[in-house]
Amino acid sequence: MNSILLLMGPNLNMLGEREPEIYGSETIQEHVNEAKRVADEFGYELAHFQSNNEGDLVDRIQKARSKHMGIIINPGALTHYGWSIHDALVAFNGVIIEMHLSNPNQREPWRHTSVVAPVADGSIVGFGIHGYELSIRALHQIIEK
Ligand code: DQA
Repeated sequence: MNSILLLMGPNLNMLGEREPEIYGSETIQEHVNEAKRVADEFGYELAHFQSNNEGDLVDRIQKARSKHMGIIINPGALTHYGWSIHDALVAFNGVIIEMHLSNPNQREPWRHTSVVAPVADGSIVGFGIHGYELSIRALHQIIEK
């Protein structure tokens, strides 16, 4: 079970086109490639799933039990109110890293609350596409402990 699941929520399929001044100009495929490149360096397989639907993300988190040793999740706007994502993550039995490309704490007040942060082992925010490397490194350190 040397596998990590990279989960992305609503609107992240628009990466590259959507507000590039905030999220960068790389496409979602380039984001996944970068995450795979780093995962490979650490000897992990990386599965990726993006959805604009909360329930699909919950299904995927439920299926991750005993299949992936860790989840790196960028829930998009669901970060701020997606309690079903919170509950699904509580039931997951591996490492959880919350990741955001931007730093939501520097942005509008409604982005300052994360319902995912309390159930994550840690959060990596504000480093754009470099956040995958930091997230996988952090996940690896927790697993090795
Ligand atoms: C985001 C931050 C969220 O507030 C926003 O709704 C997103 C992207 C990020 O990666 O910075 O969709 O999760």
